[in-house]
Amino acid sequence: MLDHDLFADHEPWEVFDHLQREAPVYRHPEPNGPGFWAITKYDDVLSVLRDTKTFSSEVGGAATIEDLPDDVLEARRNFLEFDPPKHGKYRRLISRNFTPPGVAVYEEWLRELVRHRVEHAVELGEFDLVEELAAPIPIRVLARVLGLPEEKLPRLIELGDRLLVDTDPGIVGELAYAGEQDEDRYKPFGSPWADELCELGREYYAERRECPREDVLTLIANAEIDGEPLSPGDLDNIFALLIVAGNETTRQAIALGTMALAEHPEEYDRLRADPELARSATEELLRFSSPVWWFRRTATADTTIRGVEIAAGDKVVVWFAAGNRDPDHYPDPHRLDVARNPKDHLTFGRGGPHICLGAHLARREMTVMFRELLTRAPEVHATTAPRRLQSMFINGIKELPVALY
Ligand code: HEM
Repeated sequence: MLDHDLFADHEPWEVFDHLQREAPVYRHPEPNGPGFWAITKYDDVLSVLRDTKTFSSEVGGAATIEDLPDDVLEARRNFLEFDPPKHGKYRRLISRNFTPPGVAVYEEWLRELVRHRVEHAVELGEFDLVEELAAPIPIRVLARVLGLPEEKLPRLIELGDRLLVDTDPGIVGELAYAGEQDEDRYKPFGSPWADELCELGREYYAERRECPREDVLTLIANAEIDGEPLSPGDLDNIFALLIVAGNETTRQAIALGTMALAEHPEEYDRLRADPELARSATEELLRFSSPVWWFRRTATADTTIRGVEIAAGDKVVVWFAAGNRDPDHYPDPHRLDVARNPKDHLTFGRGGPHICLGAHLARREMTVMFRELLTRAPEVHATTAPRRLQSMFINGIKELPVALY
């Protein structure tokens, strides 16, 4: 499960099926570490996410399995890696902008944006799904919500991708093999490109202090916690988190979701016949596709999961994608059923306080995209196999040539 090539080759459902049957709480070895527990059953993933006292995001971090020295972890930390109550103080600074009413204000604008992209794609007829439809939407939505300038979006996409998927040579070149360099260890995501990204962030924050606007960057730039402004490190880490978390993930939700519909023409036809199913289809495609494979927690006390003893300090990795296809929770889990409406899927890290901040935004982007596509394209076909991301963290595709009819 640590092998990026495995995930580049295909979605390894056979591995998750096997673990769920044979070892649902599995002690996975690590070449240069103590190993980690791989949790693959739906109920267990949910229990771990709910119990933030026993399973901490703060102790060893949430987005890396490798054990990082405390000072490195401290320097890179964003609120994804704080436990309650500190976590809530940060999240509440911006959370109202991401609630359903907070997101609804962008609806008309989002429809226009998506309609324009889909019309352009229909004119092209044959095109790369990722480049033409999946990639352009999330970064523009993020730009609108955060308040990022249009001319910087292509560079922000590149930088965000490099921070998040640093294991794919197509994205970060030779560094994919070299691993993290010492000089980058204390930067957000341990990435050499964090400097440039954070420099842009600092520029935007400074503008917002000078001239506040109605956007999320203004809220962060001027925020105080316990009467103190955010530290420069906090500001950098939050900016990097928002760019990275909201872009590639949603791009993959749209790309993988559309690919799943292309591979299941009967479900696509069903949706076209009943557009009311669009919201349900979004939930099912999120369950079925799971753009994020896992997140990590660290046990703070001796405990048990499914009768297996977990020691304080052990790493516990919850595999959302596996839980989403647990046959004890979802009957016939490998079947795509656009009417299933599985609102309780784990894709956004359901259960605990870290549930994805951008979930409502991502859902709206997907639903609007599928509605527009269904209205304008009676058929979607993949013309060759996708090129997959080399990442055991993000489930995704880099390219998928498709044809619309
Ligand atoms: C389909 C797209 C997306 C997926 C699959 C996804 C997935 C996730 C998951 C699984 C978590 C929980 C991490 C944990 O439990 O440790 C999370 C947290 C987060 N997501 Fe998303 N995400 C998506 C879109 C977005 C968007 C559009 C944003 C916009 C800014 C965003 C921002 C965040 C943030 C800030 C957190 C940290 C929340 C916290 O710790 O309180 N995500 N996301």
